[in-house]
This record gives sequence, C-alpha cells and structure tokens, in this order.
Amino acid sequence: MFDDSPTRLPLRLPGLVPPDRQVRIYDPGQMASLPSSIVESAALTGLGALVIDDCLNLLRQVPDHTFDLVLTSPPYDGQPKYENGEKYGRDWYEDTFLKVSAEILRTLKPHGSFVLNYRSRRQDGERGTLQYELVFWLREQGFRFCEDFVWGKPSPPPGRWKRHLKDAVEYCFHFAKTPEWQFFPEHCLTPARWDRKDVERRKKLRHNYERVNEPSGQGRRRVQAGPAMVRPSTLLHIEPEFLPNPTEHPARFPVELPSFFIKLLTQPGQLVFDPFGGTCTTAVAAESLERRWLVAEIDASYTEVLPERLKKGR
Ligand SMILES: C[S@@+](CC[C@H](N)C(=O)[O-])C[C@H]1O[C@@H](n2cnc3c(N)ncnc32)[C@H](O)[C@@H]1O
Repeated sequence: MFDDSPTRLPLRLPGLVPPDRQVRIYDPGQMASLPSSIVESAALTGLGALVIDDCLNLLRQVPDHTFDLVLTSPPYDGQPKYENGEKYGRDWYEDTFLKVSAEILRTLKPHGSFVLNYRSRRQDGERGTLQYELVFWLREQGFRFCEDFVWGKPSPPPGRWKRHLKDAVEYCFHFAKTPEWQFFPEHCLTPARWDRKDVERRKKLRHNYERVNEPSGQGRRRVQAGPAMVRPSTLLHIEPEFLPNPTEHPARFPVELPSFFIKLLTQPGQLVFDPFGGTCTTAVAAESLERRWLVAEIDASYTEVLPERLKKGR
C-alpha cells in the first residue's frame, strides 16, 4: 500500500506551496509533519497527500485545471457535532461553501467532474430544501448539472418519528465543467439481475427470435437474457458505514461510495480531491484504485485513522 515504486505517478501540483501550515504526510506506517511543499510530501506517499487546513486556503493555491475529480460530502446543514465552533447553517453554504465550489470549478480539468454528496435535514416536520437550492446555485456558478444519483441505504439509521419514516436515501449530485466530461461506465459493470421471467420474456423478443432462426442458428435454449454484466443505474444500494469508529466522526462515507464515482469518472493515475475529507475515506478508495489523491480536513483528529485505513484498504 505504501510502496513508492516507480510505476506510481507522483502528485505534481506546480506552485502549490503551503509555507506556514501543517502538512501531514504518510510514509510507511508513520505520520510526520513537514513544513514544506505538498509536492515534496506527496512524492513520499507515491499517490497522495493529506493537508490539515481549511480547504479554501488550500484550493486558493491550486493552479487552474488540476483535478480530474472532486468528490466530497461537506458538513450537513446545522451539523453541530464537529466541535469546531462552526454551525454550518444556510449562511455558511451561501457564503463559504459557494467560495469553495467556485474554486472547485476553477481547478477542475475541462473533462473533470464534481460529485457532491448531500442531504438536507428535517426540521419542524419539513424536509430542508437546501439540497435542491445547492443544485441551482452551482448551475448559476457555471457548473453543468449532469445527474442526481440516489444513494439508497438498505439498513438506514434507526429512528421513529411521528410523521416521518426512516431516512434511507442521500443524493450524490454529479456536476461537470464542460459537456465533454469523462465517463467510464465499463469500469463499474455490475452483475445483471435477469431472473427466469426476464429470460423467458427476452426469448420472445423479435431480434432474439430472428437470431435463433438464422441458418447458422443457435437453438432457442441458448439465447441468453442479455449480458452477464451490465452498466449500473443511478440508484446505488450501499450500506452506511458500520465499521468501528475510533474518531467518533458523525458522518463517514462507506468506502464503496467514493469507489463507485472514482471508477465511473476517472482512470488510474488521475487526480481526485476531497476538500472535506473527514476520516479520509476518499483517500482510501483512491489509493486502492491507483488514483492520485489530495484530501483536506480542518480537524486533524478525524484523520488519525488514515495510516491504518490505508494499510487495510478500508
Ligand atoms: C461530512 S464530513 C466528511 C466525512 C468524510 N466523507 C468521511 O468519509 O469521513 C465533513 C468534514 O468536513 C470538515 N470540514 C468542515 N469545514 C472544513 C473546511 N473549511 N475545510 C476542510 N474541512 C472542513 C469537518 O471537520 C468534517 O470532518
């Protein structure tokens, strides 16, 4: 995992030099502080670097057209649990978050994508609308709104409400910078769910009928329902993260979530950035998939699990 072999592409961010802030780097098994450039620190890990800082400070030093994919889950609205004094209310989104997203737009490559995982909370019997407003705000900023993926949780967090059910979905909004965003569905093919009924139905389809009656014809019995592996849909069935949580972080990604988008929207060796890194799940996913990565997180305590996670690949 920490192998710094020559086949690994070093992270190159020309001009990205954080002079006086704490940059944490990971070399085999241990963390060290390096008051030097991210370029140097990243070279030590081979694939990526973690920066303990406000992501806006970091982004402002990143050159235009740097990232292939920015993938993140910012603090949910009104999230009081991060203990850093910030309330992450609507005003934080209108002000700080939109400054961050403007930097993301600038630093994305023309073929790059931005995936925003977000869910407005419920309050006073109403579902918050910030999740929808964010889409409009980002479009006004110049992003192209490509897709709204739904992350469906088969086992959602428990709870009982008077007029609401358990919340089992979150959005993953996919934005791009240009119409030529790169897209690799063949990286995430999934087993087809043809059941017996599907097979019978497809045997009767005209194109199948013609195929089996060709002179060279294969017997009807050999007509398959379709390919064994198919493109996934926009509904992602992924369990929430159930692994032990030594950092007590209140909102972690399951590693399958960033993995899906990294595979769908990048190729090995390309650069993925998560500005609100938390427990660095995006880094873990990118590292396993041989993508370069950069992660920012303002609270160092959440990131202490990273060396162990990189070793385990989870
Ligand atoms: C929803 S969590 C991300 C969780 C992450 N996806 C994971 O798997 O652990 C949002 C994170 O953003 C961090 N954060 C808040 N403001 C920040 C800022 N200005 N710059 C960088 N990180 C920030 C919080 O400390 C929190 O850990």
